[in-house]
Formats: sequence, structure tokens, C-alpha cells
Amino acid sequence: MTHRIALIPGDGIGAEVMPSALRCLEALSRRPGLNFEFTDFPYSCEYYARHGVMMPADGIEQLRPHDAILLGAVGYPGVPDHVSLWGLLLPIRREFGQYVNLRPVRLLRGLTSALRDRGPEDINYLVVRENNEGEYSDIGGRMYDGLPEAMAIQANVITRKGSERILDYAFRLAESRARQTLAYATKSNGIKHSMPFWDEQVAGMAPRYPAVNVEQYHVDILAANLVTHPDWFDVIVGTNLFGDILSDLGPATAGGIGVAPSANINPDPGVPSMFEPVHGSAPDIAGQDIANPIAMIWTVVMMLEHLNENDAATDLMSALEAVTGEGKVMTRDLGGTAGTVEFTDRVLAELG
Ligand code: NAI
Ligand code: MG
Repeated sequence: MTHRIALIPGDGIGAEVMPSALRCLEALSRRPGLNFEFTDFPYSCEYYARHGVMMPADGIEQLRPHDAILLGAVGYPGVPDHVSLWGLLLPIRREFGQYVNLRPVRLLRGLTSALRDRGPEDINYLVVRENNEGEYSDIGGRMYDGLPEAMAIQANVITRKGSERILDYAFRLAESRARQTLAYATKSNGIKHSMPFWDEQVAGMAPRYPAVNVEQYHVDILAANLVTHPDWFDVIVGTNLFGDILSDLGPATAGGIGVAPSANINPDPGVPSMFEPVHGSAPDIAGQDIANPIAMIWTVVMMLEHLNENDAATDLMSALEAVTGEGKVMTRDLGGTAGTVEFTDRVLAELG
């Protein structure tokens, strides 16, 4: 089986952690029956500086025939963040209908949580964020700019179709896990139109998954509970903005941004899903071989799972966790002295 992978290394440390990913994939592809065909795409802020666009007009069509997209990070000082986001990441997420943003929050062996007295057995949940609609909509506008009457309106778009598909994904995921618990974030006390509608979609779907325990939380107390009681959670689902915030809070308790992976998934096998570490291009540490490649390597594990290469995924994750568990070779953000390449070498040695 040959998987066609589109590579978008991007900017800064995105381009530095991509080789770590490739080395892992190349090592795994020495196994019989597992092959990858890589195509490089230069879409980035550097590309923007030369061409005035983040990707060419047919960029989406060039990416479409691939089985998955692996992205490093994009962003460069001087290029406004909304340019890189609306010019590359959002078009990919939306054109390919990647309506699931999945972020595992698990404290790897050997890492220290920012939460006192919490170990790997306490922090192990998945955040499922709606990735295509919700609070991040194009609908709205401004009036009376520059005048005392200045105003802005931004609509929150929750559709039945959009909620049903993300909830269905979250329910299935919860059903497949040992604890079978789904917590959902809402704010139907304060946001009185869209959030009660979201709650109704959850209530409507719950009877189809009788094994799953459904727990409702207003997003504010849910955020608080992720700090005080992370052990309560198994699968968490939220709308775009709520999911975005919770899925940054979670990794902050589990070793930080240098270890946090993510996937933008369209479960339909006919279109590519995109896999990317949560972190950005980190211009403050770029070019020094000190970026932590864990987030990227774990992202590769998620991509392998999506491609149904479950043995390869399990082996790579085990190798990664063997290295963190041993704790001898760690990057600087985790208190060690190893560089990006040295850490990757260690993972590859473990992978054998
Ligand atoms: P960032 O994630 O790049 O960096 C935040 C902090 O975490 C920095 O101090 C950085 O050194 C550190 N850090 C991040 N990844 C690390 C790693 N792997 N190992 C060790 N330390 C790490 O976020 P920031 O600074 O807000 O954004 C920088 C640029 O990245 C901006 O242009 C932003 O738009 C872009 N960005 C892109 C994203 C993407 O491509 N999906 C996501 C977030 C930001
Ligand atoms: Mg975010």
C-alpha cells in the first residue's frame, strides 16, 4: 500500500521538525507493505513574500489527490497572522471539509504536568473541536468606523448538519474508548440562540449511543475543571471557539506546546485530512536546532492511525514514549539539553 503524502513544511521551526517526521516515516517504510510517496509544497509566508499569495490559485487542487497532508507550521514576522491563516490553513480545512479538529491531551511518561501532583494516569482525554463553522464565521460587518457610534457584529453560525457530523464523530469516539464518556461544552445560559440549538443536537443524538455517558458543562466551568479535575474527562466536544480554547488549555497541562499534536479530519476517505502540530513557527527559537519535535512525531502517529496503519502508529508512539519515559534525552523546553536532531536520533534508535 502506497500512501501519497503532501508535505507543507512551512516557516520557521515548521521546516525544522518536518525532517524529524520524514525520518520516522522513512524508517517505518522499510517494513514490507508500508510505502509512502511524498510531494513537497512550498506554501508558506516565504512563498507569500515572493508571490503575494500563500499558495497558488490551484493550490487546493494540487493537494486534493493526496491521502493526507502533513504540515509543519506557517507564520513569519511581517506577514500578518490573518494572512497565513485565511490564505492557507482555513482554505485547506474548509475546502476539504475537515470538520473535525482532534487534539489528544495525554501526559506522556516522563513529562511533568503544570498541575501539581498529576501524573499520566490523571491526564488522558481527547478534545474534539468543530472546525468549519461556529464562531469563526465570515458573517458580520462593521459600521461607523472611526466615529463614536462605531460598531462590529460577528455572527455565530451553528447548523444542524455541522453539529450532527461533529457530534456523531465525538459520540463514536467516546463509544470506542474504555470510559465511554462524552463531555460537551456549551454556554446556553448566556448565548441564548445558538447554544440551546447546539444542546438540542446533542440531546437528539444521545439515544443513538446508549453506551455513552453524556455530561453537559458550561464552557467556563469546563475550563476550570480541566485544571482542577483533569481525571474526570475522556472525550470533550465543543464548537469552534470553545474547542479552540479548551484544546490550548489541555496541552498546557500536559507538557506544553512543544508536545501537542493535532489533526484536521474529514472522515470521508475521498479527501485528504491534514495533520499538524499545535505550535506555530516559533520565530524566537527558529534556526537553532532546539525545537521540540515531539509534537510533530506524535502528529505523524495520528496520521498513521488515520491511514489505518495502526501497527506503525503504535510502534512509533511506543518509541517516542520510551524516550520520554527514560528522560535522558529531552529538549530544552522540557528541561533537557538535546537538540531537535539528537532527540529524533534517539527516537529512531528506539524504533529500531
Ligand atoms: P508558537 O507556537 O510559534 O510559539 C509560542 C512559544 O512556544 C514560543 O516561545 C516558542 O518558542 C515556543 N514553542 C513553540 N513550539 C515549540 C517547540 N516545538 N519546541 C520548543 N518550543 C516551542 O506561537 P506564536 O509565537 O504565537 O506564533 C509564531 C508564529 O506562528 C506566528 O506567525 C503565528 O501566526 C504562527 N502560528 C502558526 C500556527 C500554525 O501554523 N498552525 C499555529 C500557531 C501560530
Ligand atoms: Mg488555537
